[in-house]
Amino acid sequence: MAIEKVGVVGCGLMGSGIAQVCAQAGFQTVVREFSPELLEKGLKSIEKNLVRLVEKGTITESAKNEIRGRLNGATSLDGLKDCDLVVEAIIEQLPAKRELFSALDALCPAHTIFASNTSSLTITEIAAATRRPQRFVGLHFFNPVPVMKLVEVVRTIATDPVVYEEMVGFGAKVGKTPVRALDSGGFIVNRLLVPYLLDAIRALEEGVGSVVDIDNSMKLGCGYPMGPFTLLDFVGLDTTYYISQIMFDEFKERRFAAPPLLKRMVLAGWHGKKSGRGFYDYADPANPKPMSL
Ligand code: CAA
Repeated sequence: MAIEKVGVVGCGLMGSGIAQVCAQAGFQTVVREFSPELLEKGLKSIEKNLVRLVEKGTITESAKNEIRGRLNGATSLDGLKDCDLVVEAIIEQLPAKRELFSALDALCPAHTIFASNTSSLTITEIAAATRRPQRFVGLHFFNPVPVMKLVEVVRTIATDPVVYEEMVGFGAKVGKTPVRALDSGGFIVNRLLVPYLLDAIRALEEGVGSVVDIDNSMKLGCGYPMGPFTLLDFVGLDTTYYISQIMFDEFKERRFAAPPLLKRMVLAGWHGKKSGRGFYDYADPANPKPMSL
């Protein structure tokens, strides 16, 4: 069955980006957020991105209006009941995701496919909260969603191969390069990225180099768009800490263990760019000041 209408749950950083790329790709899209205030904030960020695309000449004003016409907001789950696919991008907490999908399972028709944008939780465990684990996949997008070209399409031992291939096709339709990944802790990207980020913190702890020198090393020596500390602040230290804990729990390997410095920064409320402070201080956002140990 062809996907025509997509529901997105959560209109934060990831959900708003996912809703944007779905509407841009021509899908009728409804994005659900708890409160009218959060919904408005998310829809405004989509509007801002679309205006920027018009200014750059990437899309026309009328294309922008068509995209906005395909995109609707909702504060109740009921708004998602006739969707062919629902992509979840809510808080990274297993009980919240299981509760959401259990409610969606009761609400949506049997053909609706469910997908989670989780970066670290086990898809199998979220899917087990529904009576349709065979129609459940991971669709892991990357921040910023409208820009990053990858989507990891994650299958569990229960995913129906036909549903899975349909989702690989969906990833391509929303303009991403889909990669096939198994439901294993961190999938492909975080399996490689998380130990790298944690190693950068360990190198800093050991005095191998400063924040700026380590960042510059990977930017200028390896051509990475951001150095590890800029990326850590961008992703969020709380998020990285949380992912590392889940991956350590899965693999019991030191490379996934959070370094003490990361833990302390999270405990201190230094969550990166979003909190104004992480490995850099963003009091002057145009001129972030690196921390020194
Ligand atoms: N939303 C939409 N568009 C954005 C954007 C955003 N938040 N941020 C930047 N852009 C666009 C800009 O408009 C610009 O577009 P044009 O070239 O068409 O003008 C383009 O992206 C480049 O932006 P900038 O010139 O301002 O800055 P840049 O060249 O440094 O690029 C970046 C910014 C794309 C974020 C780049 O630094 C980058 O690729 N960084 C690495 C990001 C990354 O690794 N993301 C994955 C994180 S891991 C994750 O998400 C998953 C997880 O599980 C933790």
